[in-house]
Amino acid sequence: MDKFLIRGGKPLKGTVKISGAKNSALPCLAATLLTAETVTLHNVPYVKDLITQRRLLEDLGATVLTPELHTQKIRAANIEIYEAPYELVKTMRASVLALGPLLARFGQAKVSLPGGCAIGTRPIDLHLKAFEQLGATISLESGDVVARAPKGRLTGAETFFEKVSVTGTENVLMAASLAKGKTTIHNAAREPEIEDLAELLNKMGAKIVGAGTETITIEGVESLGAAEHTIIPDRIETGTFIIAAAITGGELEIQNCQPQHLAAVIEKLREVGVEIEERGQNTLFVKCCKNGLQSKDVTTEPHPRFPTDMQAQYMALMTQAEGTAAVVETIFENRFMHVGELIRMGANIQISGNTAIVKGKTNLMGAPILASDLRASASLVLAGLAAAGETLIDRVYHIDRGYETIVKKLNEIGADIERITENLTMSAE
Ligand code: UD1
Repeated sequence: MDKFLIRGGKPLKGTVKISGAKNSALPCLAATLLTAETVTLHNVPYVKDLITQRRLLEDLGATVLTPELHTQKIRAANIEIYEAPYELVKTMRASVLALGPLLARFGQAKVSLPGGCAIGTRPIDLHLKAFEQLGATISLESGDVVARAPKGRLTGAETFFEKVSVTGTENVLMAASLAKGKTTIHNAAREPEIEDLAELLNKMGAKIVGAGTETITIEGVESLGAAEHTIIPDRIETGTFIIAAAITGGELEIQNCQPQHLAAVIEKLREVGVEIEERGQNTLFVKCCKNGLQSKDVTTEPHPRFPTDMQAQYMALMTQAEGTAAVVETIFENRFMHVGELIRMGANIQISGNTAIVKGKTNLMGAPILASDLRASASLVLAGLAAAGETLIDRVYHIDRGYETIVKKLNEIGADIERITENLTMSAE
């Protein structure tokens, strides 16, 4: 298993370009299953989860061409199987996003029920309930969810999410696009990735209004067609690089980002003392921190509030701030896996229920540590960049799921980080 070796204590300086959003590209790739015509997606990040999603599409019978590294041309004309197998679902939960499109276009779909993962149980009951409201029958057969639409087509309906669900909203958005009649999604997720997916679907011929608000209406159409679309920038990668600049006392220009997609993160980091300047629409300049960092509490909540996907990275930063910060996680029940590792590096953190109390400022020291999930890994990289001495992070395959060429990007802005591959040779990625 690959490891990262970080020699910390170097302020990051220079320019970094943000990649396309993993969490937008995943549903957009799934949406290509809704049509027999070619859909071209630009700005697709080259990360492990997208390679897995591409493999899923190909296993189902789609043709995927990659004329350039970040462009994918997908033609799902000859789909013969309607099934996402356990081997794929267990490595990437986003494969459940195949359920909505397959059910809508072919009237049937089988997707292995995702089990729990490191950050919690992560059920899909709300997706399934909404599909039932659209007329589907759902059964569980040997660990697989089997969904069928009576007479081969879903029917538009009023659907209500008891809890805001990003992937759930996306699945219903795709399914309802080809349903007969009108669907309304109440208490829909409002993440920018939902708006991006809706924009792609509308380009394909869907009739979706209200994406980005809590009520979305979809007028079902008979068929969808070809489209070309550019994926939005990754707001979590953007936030991670802001914190990378802040935690190392550096100066960073962050290009190709969309600051309005992470307004809550920028606002919180400014409160903490990070100087963040917007230069035009797609560039941020980050400088840290003439008056040091001050601890501030944070609570994770659905968009547009502070995202759970930035909680671990924010906690790493709080170890370097003066005072006490309560970090409250309300989205996932087990998302503090990074805490034990940060403590090994010298952090002072106590967990009580869904709250972590971080006392700062503590001097972090390099140590051998273990990455446990995607965002936790990012937080450990950040801590390693701030720590004195060497940090060796094991199981970095988690970070490869969602951060494109992170070692290269960090080295280009002055970090000292190398990937140690399985056979113990070094590579610059
Ligand atoms: C998505 C993101 C993930 C991010 C999360 C929260 C993708 C591929 N993943 O995950 O990176 O951390 O949003 O912003 O975009 N829930 C249920 N039943 C369901 C669905 C969800 O109880 O059927 C619960 C979950 O357990 C969790 C909460 O609702 O507590 C939010 O989950 P959800 O928004 O669905 O997260 P994901 O879409 O899995």
